[in-house]
Order: sequence, then C-alpha cells, then structure tokens
Amino acid sequence: MGEARVNECRCCKTAIEESMTFGQMPIANAFLPKSDSYNEYFFEMATAFCSNCFAYQLLEQPDAEMMFHENYAFYSRQSKFMQIHFKSYADWVLENYLDNPDNSFVVEIGSNDGIMLENFAKQRIKHLGVDPSSNVVDEAIKHGVQSIVSFFGLDSSKDIKGEYGLADAIISANVMCHLPDLNDIAKGAHNLLNEKGVLIFEDPYLGSMLEKVSYDQIYDEHVYIFSALSTSKIFGKHGFELINLAPQETHGGSMRYVFAKKGQRAIQPIVQEILGDELAKGFDSAETYKQFKENCENSKSRLVTILNNAKKAGKTIAGYGATSKSTTILNYCGIGPELIDFISDTTPIKQNKVTPGMHIPVESYEFFKENIPDMIILFAWNHANEIIEKEKDAIDKSVEWVTHLPNFQLKI
Ligand code: TMP
Ligand code: ZN
Repeated sequence: MGEARVNECRCCKTAIEESMTFGQMPIANAFLPKSDSYNEYFFEMATAFCSNCFAYQLLEQPDAEMMFHENYAFYSRQSKFMQIHFKSYADWVLENYLDNPDNSFVVEIGSNDGIMLENFAKQRIKHLGVDPSSNVVDEAIKHGVQSIVSFFGLDSSKDIKGEYGLADAIISANVMCHLPDLNDIAKGAHNLLNEKGVLIFEDPYLGSMLEKVSYDQIYDEHVYIFSALSTSKIFGKHGFELINLAPQETHGGSMRYVFAKKGQRAIQPIVQEILGDELAKGFDSAETYKQFKENCENSKSRLVTILNNAKKAGKTIAGYGATSKSTTILNYCGIGPELIDFISDTTPIKQNKVTPGMHIPVESYEFFKENIPDMIILFAWNHANEIIEKEKDAIDKSVEWVTHLPNFQLKI
C-alpha cells in the first residue's frame, strides 16, 4: 500500500542507511471507531540521514492519499495559540517581503482551513490556498479564503501561473516537511515566483528535536525533519538561496526559512550564524544521529518505567491531547490501554474513537474533567503554556504531569 522503502536519499539520490527504527507504525491521525477487532495499516517507521544533502528523512512513507484525504482529522483553526501565531506569521511576511501588498499575490502550500491566508484575505490581498484535502479546503472557502484542492508541484504551478499570474510569495507552515518530492516543489515554486519572489516555510526544527529528544516529531506525515543545512542544500540546487531564518517556538521548536532566487535579495547575517551553529553541533555527521537513537531509547525506558511504577502503585493515568505525535510515542514505547486509561482531546472527530495502533480510548474534555486521573501524560507538550494556564487552578496540585521528554520542566 505504501511506497517501497527507499535506499537512496529522496532529494539527491545518494545511498543512505537506516539511522534508527521506531518499529511498525500506523498512520498518526487514523483514529478508529471502537471495535472488537481492528484491521489497520502499518508501515515501518525508520529514519536515515543523507551525508550529501544532510536531509534527515523517513525511509518508508505511506501513500499521500492515505494521509491527506477528505477526512483529514487536523484542522489548524482549533488552537487559539496557532491562530495568533499565523496572524503574526502573515504580518511578518507582509512587513518584510511584500513591498506592494495591493499588487501582490500570495500562494500557500497546504493551506488547511485557511487559518493563515485569512489574514491576507481580510486585507484584500490576492491569495490562493492549495491543499489536497477537500474537507479543510471547504472550511477555508467558508472563511472567505480562496482555495483549490490540489497537491503543489511543477504541474500545478503551471496551472496556477496560467490562471492567476506570478506569485510574490509562496508560503507554508508545517507542510513542506510532509512533501517527499522536494525537487518538484522547488521547481514549482521557482516557476511560479517572480524575480524578487520569496519562498517561505516553517517546520519542526531538527535542532530542537535533537536537543529535546522530541522524537515524536517523527511520524508518517513528517517525511523530513529540516535544518538550515539541509534546506539550503536541497533548494540551492534549484536556483534558490537561503536569505533569512527565524526560529519559532511553535510545535516544540520550529524554524522559518526564507528562500529567494539566487542573487535577488540580501542574505541576513543570521543565516551564517545558524549554519555555523549546526555545523558545530554536528548536524552534518552520522554520529549525531546515532547519539539521537540512544537518547530515544533512554527516553523510552524512562517513560515506560514511570508509567509501570504508577500503575503498580494503583494510580490512574490519562493522556492530555490525542496528538498526531502521540501515535509515535505510544507505538514506539508499546504503551496501550493497560497503562493509559484514556486520552482527553477537544477535537470532536477524535472523540469516542481509539488511538491508532495502541487503541487507547479518546474521550472528550468534559469526560476528563469528571475523571481527573492521578497522573497525566502531556502529549500536547508543545502547547504546555496554554494548557497549564488553563488547568493550573482546576487540577489538584497532587496530580503528576509527565512527558516523554527527558529534560522537560512543567511549570505548574
Ligand atoms: P497538535 O500538537 O498536532 O497541534 O495537536 C494538538 C491536539 O491536542 C489536538 O488534537 C487538540 C488537542 N488539545 C487538547 O485536547 N486540549 C488542548 O488544550 C490543546 C492545546 C490541544
Ligand atoms: Zn541527500
């Protein structure tokens, strides 16, 4: 069903070897109706590092149609924090890269429910969202965001150019790392952008993942975990150069990358700073990824021990946030309903279902409030500030909050 396991880098075709495997993994967002027997799709979630373009990537990925379809369970609009973040992202693009907003055209790759583009739409800036999942595109259109159901690439860039003209900015958030064929994306972006045009995207940052041991950034949709080193190599092959970087706190540590056509725009000093920092930390060396593997294994045994001990002591345990990322943690660590009673999630389409692979029940937030456990495993750890703010007075101080991250400090 999925694509075959690759043995060469997706970007540059250099031979690559497995760095580590997380074992058999289901689709992170494939929550299942409760049943007596489950017939699920699994793939082997293993990673590799390319010594040529430095891309840290999945060796095997399910077909895109299995992940991004008319029932895609992720609506960006659900988080207030993300709404604020996308407003500031849009303002940043406007301020720094749209010299003449009234005559600009902004295209978003993976525009989801229009959470980012609506900031342009409200200012009557010409825009177009491109997303392969029709349910989220319908939602975007309801919010006044012009959108089409399509994958982005060289072919679709030609259609868009023919119908709407050249773009001044192509933007995306948490999408580029989903796209296996970056060469096609880069060609499409280069074709659609005018001379001064910019390609801006942000995604979970390799540096944050390695530092925090947040291996849950890796799941079926995230075929790459990017760095400045890897993106500059990959997009550099297609006539782009990295001109700016802006670290972000979203998704537990992300990076915003800005590419322009070669020689068209000034390169900001932060680009050299971050590239230098990545080299100093060995992001270009296979050794770094061996160490990461060891750190993941240590994180796994620590978490399993914490949960086992709590269970033995008769404690009740619930998860907070049935995040896509939690699918990686639960399946890699082999944690199921024998350890976690339920996971609370505010997303209606996840409720009354079970989690992919490990089949832990997902319950509503109201259910959680009536069944506060002795221990909470915070799967939505990247939203910790928002959650702690919401819960600090409502949940008894004796309740223990844990995460799989070895050095994560929850300030309750
Ligand atoms: P994300 O980490 O991929 O953004 O997913 C967050 C998930 O966590 C989403 O399913 C909604 C859920 N969630 C809650 O249930 N309560 C909360 O307070 C927050 C912030 C998220
Ligand atoms: Zn490569």
